[in-house]
Amino acid sequence: MTNKDYDSIKPIIWQDDTLQLLDQRLLPSEYTYISLNNAKSVAQAITDMVVRGAPAIGITAAFGIVIAARQRFAENPGTWKQAIEEDLQILAQSRPTAVNLFWAIDLMREVIKGLAVDDPIATLLSLAKQIHADDIAANIKMGEFGAQLIEEKCAVLTHCNAGALATGGYGTALGVIRSAYGHDKISCVYADETRPWLQGARLTAWEMVHDDIPVSLLVEGAAAHMIKTSQATDNPIKWIIVGSDRIASNGDVANKIGTYALAVLARHHGIKFMVAAPTTTIDMNIADGDDIPIEERSTLEVLGFSGKEVAAKGAEARNPAFDVTPAELVDAIVTEKGVVLNPNLEKMKTLMTNVG
Ligand code: MRU
Repeated sequence: MTNKDYDSIKPIIWQDDTLQLLDQRLLPSEYTYISLNNAKSVAQAITDMVVRGAPAIGITAAFGIVIAARQRFAENPGTWKQAIEEDLQILAQSRPTAVNLFWAIDLMREVIKGLAVDDPIATLLSLAKQIHADDIAANIKMGEFGAQLIEEKCAVLTHCNAGALATGGYGTALGVIRSAYGHDKISCVYADETRPWLQGARLTAWEMVHDDIPVSLLVEGAAAHMIKTSQATDNPIKWIIVGSDRIASNGDVANKIGTYALAVLARHHGIKFMVAAPTTTIDMNIADGDDIPIEERSTLEVLGFSGKEVAAKGAEARNPAFDVTPAELVDAIVTEKGVVLNPNLEKMKTLMTNVG
């Protein structure tokens, strides 16, 4: 399969002047797009996980700003630039951890400030489309860079969903997996089911089946056992490959809750830990992972399942959606601008000097 063959899963579509999002809450049983026509509903869709995954959230916000600009400009062409700030704020409050959201909002805001044309919508729409296209192109590059790191054919383990659904298309971690599988370097993919939203079971497994890549689901608790026992087989797990929601300037990596535990496991068992993320996920403004805001979602997601209460009545819960893996546990950060091995501040600075 070529990269092009893998380009068929589209979480975000701009069609007939509307933003359409594939409702990821319904996958894999239903494949339904919903249309959105104001900034509030776009922000709500991000909060409610209709669309999720750091790059996909950023792209969605960019299109949300186009919709907001169209509305504000139609209401009052003289004051729309001030009025749209309210929409930018609403979008910025939709989810806190993925920095791609803030990156996209800041970029669109800067362009809005400088716009001196009669009809601003075409300019903003073409920027949103460019952000979307650049993300897919970055993923395809990352896929090749990441695949080159895998020396011998092996099994890999991934967590959450860092696939086409979490991005503009192709995926970050799953982009590496798609590319490596295409180069016959991967025998099979183990996917953590990823409680409580089951991104692994519902989304990653669906993407892998869709692309005919062999996938086996694991409950998170099975990872240590599978890594350990697979080493003596023909199919050893040699890499854990994940995406990221935000990477601090020292190389600390925020990703779906449970990622940190996997990095500890990887180091303990002498296997490698790879993070694939575009440079739009790197936040050079923060010193380390302690400064990354970690989203705590509703405890109902933990106390129940599929909308039904399952936990003992009276039990409380915590629901941090992300954790931070310290840079020293990361073997490689793979971006579209290149690979950083054993990341630290100096190496991240060097990487980011290549970013325009
Ligand atoms: O809560 P989610 O589903 O938005 O979390 C997604 C992840 O943690 C992904 O691994 C991350 O955004 C990288 S996506 C390419």
